[in-house]
Parts: sequence; structure tokens; C-alpha cells
Amino acid sequence: MAQQTIPPHVLIFPFPVQGHVTTMLKLSELFCLAGIHVTYLISTQNYTRLVRCTNVLSRLSPYPGFRFQVLPESVSDGNAQSMDLVMNLFESLKTAKTFFKDLLIGEAQKPVTCIISDGLMSFTLDLGEEIGIPIIYFRTISSCSFWAYFCMPKLVEAGELPLKGDDMDVLIKNVPGMECFLRQRDLPSLCRVSDLNNSTFTMISSETHQTVRARALILNTFEDLEGPILSQIRTEFPNTYTIGPLHAHLKARLDGKTASQLASSNSLWEEDKSCIKWLDNQPLKSVVYVSFGSIAMVTREQLVEFWHGLVNSGIRFLWVIRPDSVTDEEMGSEIQAELEKATKARGYMVEWAPQEAVLAHQAVGGFLTHSGWNSTLESIFEGVPMICWPYFADQQINSRFVGEVWKVGLDIKDTCDRVVIEKAVKDMMEVRKEEFVESADQIAKMARKSVGEGGSSYCNLNRLIEDIMLMTVGGITP
Ligand code: UDX
Repeated sequence: MAQQTIPPHVLIFPFPVQGHVTTMLKLSELFCLAGIHVTYLISTQNYTRLVRCTNVLSRLSPYPGFRFQVLPESVSDGNAQSMDLVMNLFESLKTAKTFFKDLLIGEAQKPVTCIISDGLMSFTLDLGEEIGIPIIYFRTISSCSFWAYFCMPKLVEAGELPLKGDDMDVLIKNVPGMECFLRQRDLPSLCRVSDLNNSTFTMISSETHQTVRARALILNTFEDLEGPILSQIRTEFPNTYTIGPLHAHLKARLDGKTASQLASSNSLWEEDKSCIKWLDNQPLKSVVYVSFGSIAMVTREQLVEFWHGLVNSGIRFLWVIRPDSVTDEEMGSEIQAELEKATKARGYMVEWAPQEAVLAHQAVGGFLTHSGWNSTLESIFEGVPMICWPYFADQQINSRFVGEVWKVGLDIKDTCDRVVIEKAVKDMMEVRKEEFVESADQIAKMARKSVGEGGSSYCNLNRLIEDIMLMTVGGITP
């Protein structure tokens, strides 16, 4: 009997913060290109900001099968910052459970054939199982951090957690594949706990363990970058699709499409494009780009240390300072005047930059980053060496891989000192420049290969699409 021909309909549910929203929207576009219908769940706040700051509606209009579905207003961060924000959102998402269920059973015309849910929201697994819709988990973080989160119960069992003593350089032995280089200080910040009842620790550890219930796992990485860790992950999750770096994968598959479709910004802040003009006037690879992503906060004191470090290095810099990212009191006006003078001479500051374009710009020679996974992948793809100042979550382990495994930069975690920053900037941009550029170039080549036709991520995405096609109503595999 002939199979019916209703296109597959995937419901995509990201955790509602910038790094997750952008990655899962890129995956949605890739699905649309393959003819899969997509409903994308988004919080009211993020929808308003996304529409205001980007061309997302016109960009996605060529895909009739795509639609945004706004979540109830109760899904909100409560205007808290950093980890509070994440925990507030995590709690508020649970209020969307009934809404989500109604959405799943109410789509009679175009039934949902697969749910792709951010791997932090196990209530989606409960509902998928209850209603009988296959769920694939998408962890938008690095594979190394996912694997470390998954191994936390082993660390507890072996007595490595809670952390003991003050020596953060002690090696951790119970994350298979990382025994030789993972120190206590490199554990994801949510796991660097002295109390096992810590609420963020229990949340991340138990949510990660729920992944075993998902039909498959998607990771935004590529085989040549995290191969040894992926082999470990596949011992627990054999059906793992590595399809990254997604931002580049989308661009590769959009090849030949219109400029408006290619400009795939998913920013929740207005991009200040004047910095590209400024970069156009700077010498080749002369600028260090500084950005700490969408969640990290710095104190005034830390800001001043970074500022002095950058100014004292004598290197040109482009610095993103989000308006909501600096805590506590004003600094003295004399300090500010002195730093501003030096900044006018060789620096440029914006509130939000078109980061992918900045990292691809020929004037950029290095990236001082918080090691968020998207930023790390974007830098790796462009062959830009990094100085890592991880803030929270997966960033502590990402930065260890940057410094110790991939050797494409320096990890300055747990310090914030102008002298250290100045030295790191000079090392990256001058003293050790060749060494870093050489390894960054090699990895960038592998990244490009992975998303090109026949590359590992390219083939894995095709396999994922084929598997989703098989989940079409009437064709759900048991
Ligand atoms: C968070 C976590 O911090 C990160 O570690 C996790 O992997 C995903 O969620 P965030 O802190 O925002 O994300 O960092 P990151 O993952 O690097 O994502 C930031 C995104 O914003 C990047 O895609 C980057 O290109 C974009 N960005 C950042 C801009 O477009 N302009 C900017 O000025 C700064």
C-alpha cells in the first residue's frame, strides 16, 4: 500500500535564551530547506525582540511550512540575570506543560510527527511518551560538557564530588576520555559544588540523565573536533547525530540563495554594524574582538581590569559591552577618562555586534571570549585563536579544550587581572601568534570539510532528515 504523503512536521522547542534560540532556529531553517514542516516554540519576549532586531520574518517567508508558535506569557526569565535567569526560565517553562500538550494533540490538520526538544526539558519527554510522538533531544552545548554532565553521578560515587580541598588543579579521574587533563577547575561551573544538594547541580545532573529516554541525540559539533569524546558518548547514546557547526552548515546549504536569506542573524539585540566599517579601516589580523555573549555579567572592577589589560597591550580592540552586563557602582570619572582616551586611539565599543561577520573579518586576529559554545564554534570555523575567560555552565570545560586539547588559544579562567590580560593579548596577537594561527587554521579546515558535501556533519544531517521523514504519520517506526 502506498505511503501517504503528508510532509513530516517537527515541533522545535529551544530553551529560551540567545545561544539556544539561535542554534535551533538554524536547525529549523535546514529542515525547511529539506521540505520538513516546522513549528518553532518561542517565548513572547524573545519573539518580540527577534522580530524587532532581525529580518527573520521575511527571511523565513519562502518556507510555507514554517511557523512561530509563541509560548504563554508565564514563560519568562523574571528579569533576573545569569544563573538566576536560567533557573527562573527553567522553572517557568514548566508552566507551559499544558499548553504544549494541547498543541501536540490539537494539530489535527498537520499532526506533529517528531519533537526536537532542548535537552534540558524532560517534561517534553513525558508528554512525547504519553502521546506517542518520538522525541529527539538537542543539546546545544559542546559534547565535552554534555559528557561531563552525564558523568556527574560517577564523580559522586567515586568521591570526587563534592569538591574537596582548595587545590583546583587536582585531576578529575571519572570523566572517561578526559582523565589526563580535566582539573577540578575545568568542571562545568554548575558542577563545581561543595554541596550535592545545590539546586542547579541537581537540575543539570538529573536533566542530563533523562537523555537516555530520547530516541536520538543531536549535537552541534563535528567529528574531527570532538571525536574521542563522541566515541564515549556513543557508548551510552549510539544514535547521536553531529551536524555542526550549524551556523556554517546552514550557510553552506543556502549557497546560491538570496542575500536576505544568507543574512541569517537571530540576534535578540540590535546589531551595531558600524563596527564592520571600523574594522574595514584596520590592518590585517590586527584587532582583538572582545565579547562575553548574551548572559555573562561583569563587575565594574572586572571591567576595569579588562579595560586596562586591553589598553596596556597596545593592541587594537573591538569590544561588545551589553548594556545589561555590568553590575555595581560607577567607576571614578578620572579612570574612565584615561581609558576612554586610549580607546579612542585604537579601540571601538558597541552594545551588540554582528558577531559571525566580525569573526569572519580579515582585520580580526583574536577573540577574547567567555567560551560560550556558539562563540567557540564561530571562532573555530573562522580560524581565529581565542583567549578564554569562562563565566559559567559549560564554558569552564570548553575553555580547557581550547587551551589544552585543540591548542587554539589560552585559558585564563579564575583570574581577572590586568597584567594577565595584557600578557595573554600580547601572546595571542604577537608572541605566540604563529603557533595559534597554525592550529586554528588546521581545525578551521576540518570544520569547513565537515559541512561541505560528503563531510561528516553533512552526511549526518542527511541521515537525520531521512530518519525524520520515516517518522511521517503512518510511517512511525516502533
Ligand atoms: C549560552 C551559554 O553561555 C553557552 O555556554 C551555551 O553553550 C549556550 O548558551 P551565550 O552565553 O550567549 O550562550 O554564549 P554563546 O553560546 O557563545 O552564544 C552567543 C551568541 O550570540 C553567538 O551566536 C554570537 O554570535 C551571538 N552574539 C554575541 C552576537 O551576535 N553579537 C554579540 O555582540 C555577541
